Amino acid sequence: RTVDWTPEDAQKEGYDHYMLKEIHEQPMALRRALRGRIDAGIEVPAWLLDHPDGVPVRFVACGTSYHAALYAVELLQKRGISAQASLASEFATSPPPLVDGSVVVGVTQSGETADTLGALRRASEAGARTLAVTNVVGSTAARECDDAIFIRAGPEIGVAATKTFSSQVVTLALLAERLADADTGILQALSTVPDALQYVLDHTTAPQVARTYADASAYFFVGRGVAHSVSLEGALKLKEISYEHAEGFPAGELKHGPLALVTPETPVFAIETGDHSDRMRGTVEEVQARGAPVVAVTHPESAVAAAAETVLPIPETHPELAGLLANAQLQLLSYHTARLLDRPVDKPRNLAKSVTVE
Ligand code: G6P
Repeated sequence: RTVDWTPEDAQKEGYDHYMLKEIHEQPMALRRALRGRIDAGIEVPAWLLDHPDGVPVRFVACGTSYHAALYAVELLQKRGISAQASLASEFATSPPPLVDGSVVVGVTQSGETADTLGALRRASEAGARTLAVTNVVGSTAARECDDAIFIRAGPEIGVAATKTFSSQVVTLALLAERLADADTGILQALSTVPDALQYVLDHTTAPQVARTYADASAYFFVGRGVAHSVSLEGALKLKEISYEHAEGFPAGELKHGPLALVTPETPVFAIETGDHSDRMRGTVEEVQARGAPVVAVTHPESAVAAAAETVLPIPETHPELAGLLANAQLQLLSYHTARLLDRPVDKPRNLAKSVTVE
């Protein structure tokens, strides 16, 4: 008898790819990220709790981590806390003026991304306090920053980040709530997110949707608020592993240029979290008038779902967390599209898991 599996297959635990395995690990990863942090609140450094009102919390990050940072900016701003996210490469080359009491949060799964480390070092030299939000205990970011918060996602092997994005968002949501003056109800909602995510994974229609649109000439993703960051992440994931042309836009910006690209060959994924239903209905009409098919990524009973050709359904949840559920659907969409196109899902061309050069 011969053995027809490799040690690598064994590590994939029956999944064809690490990416799919890691997508399915998300409920467990989120339970870990939340453990002990809902009742007691997440531990954050005192200097962050006490940072001067009006001095923005500045995030620096790259790639998927940047999208998690954008998600966090929305959560902080909703709580009256001024916040900004910069791409780390831009921050390092043209840093914003940092005032006394500035705080800079590096969001980096690996803790080793050179651009992010460069931005954090610059911030530190300019006198800012620095915090690493990372997956890797003992990483350079964790060691060099004044403090670190861990996202507890467990090892991620697939080059395309999946479970680490969700764990970053959940950790940053805990952080936002900790910095807020009032209880916004998100903690209670967070505790239900692992089960809701499991529901999405168990009932997804992503394989069918991927098949329907596999011949598209380009894919567009639109959303508002947290769904804007999810639209960017949905497009990035699809580019990375399927090599298809995909772009994410804030829904309101479509009419200022991107609409020129919209045709019957370009499906538009409309991500609706429950916060912006009327405006998103308008967006759907705008693109349907140009003949584009619309896939609503939202609760199946919402008005946006009713207007769309197809739905990638998500269960009802706190609007600030609906983006996470929508994102899981888009991860699966990318995965199944890449499979149909026969792409090397776990090792896309030209990309590295962690980019350690500037
Ligand atoms: C690389 C990876 C991306 C990742 C980015 C930031 O470009 O291919 O998936 O989002 O680095 O990585 P980090 O470890 O800093 O989160």
